[in-house]
Amino acid sequence: MDKYCVFGHPIEHSKSPWIHAQFAKLTGQSLHYDKTLAPLDGFAQTIRQFQTSGGKGCNVTLPFKTEAAALATRCSPRVALAQACNTLKFEGDEIYGDNTDGLGLVTDLVRNAGCQLKGQRILLIGAGGAAAGVLGPLMSEHPRAIWVANRTLDKAESLVAQHAALAQAEQVDCQAFGLNHEALLSQSFDVVINASSSSLHQGAIPVPDSVLSAHSLACDLMYGPSTQAFMQWAQAKGAVARDGLGMLVEQAAESFNIWRGVRPPTEQVLSDLRALLAQP
Ligand code: ATR
Repeated sequence: MDKYCVFGHPIEHSKSPWIHAQFAKLTGQSLHYDKTLAPLDGFAQTIRQFQTSGGKGCNVTLPFKTEAAALATRCSPRVALAQACNTLKFEGDEIYGDNTDGLGLVTDLVRNAGCQLKGQRILLIGAGGAAAGVLGPLMSEHPRAIWVANRTLDKAESLVAQHAALAQAEQVDCQAFGLNHEALLSQSFDVVINASSSSLHQGAIPVPDSVLSAHSLACDLMYGPSTQAFMQWAQAKGAVARDGLGMLVEQAAESFNIWRGVRPPTEQVLSDLRALLAQP
């Protein structure tokens, strides 16, 4: 049976084996997908061992996405832009690297949430690995603007600079701001995406209320109980609130497609996973 795996540190929480088992069933594919804790100082070695033991491909999660990008011998333009990789496919001695996080988010917003991004104004909160993974694919949807707001302004500026050529090609107004910049106090956004780890750290809502209106969609890329404060904040403003569970399932479907050449249906998997996580 073809072997796949997700590597991270920590990894116990990962729902990827469950998701890929559902995809395999739904598409009639024969494969086994596992999860493995990679040592913090031994990621590359762990991946090579998996590859030589016959592994066909893997997902990579925190904190190894940058190392995975460096390990790939060939990568997609998305990896080059994000400098992060969440999907590896082994092709003989070659390792192909891709990043399906942004595609997963876009599919979840456009298809699952019915939110067209073309011509919209987007606020992206955060400038770490999660934000880097989604900025390029968001731009490719031709929004009018993507403003990146981060606690540390320098990091937002670097991320925006890294995407300047794409922003120009796609004609997207892409600018960097600090979290409390006055520009954020005077206007709302169609879509507000929290790609910071504020929810994970149970921090305060990172941006002023003024960024939301009753017509906004607000999405936290995290999922589970830690996102409750962000979701409640959005709902209190009358906005549509969404967590990152849809993105999780959609990015997995993109990885599955890269490995197996078939994109599995996701609707039932997403609703079953939501029900599973809601169980006490
Ligand atoms: P990830 O790969 O999950 O994005 P990361 O690269 O460590 O993790 O980035 C975390 C992001 O969340 C950063 O943008 C960070 O802001 P800084 O660049 O200023 O560190 C942001 N972040 C973390 N805790 C936050 C909080 N409580 N409020 C707002 N932003 C926060």
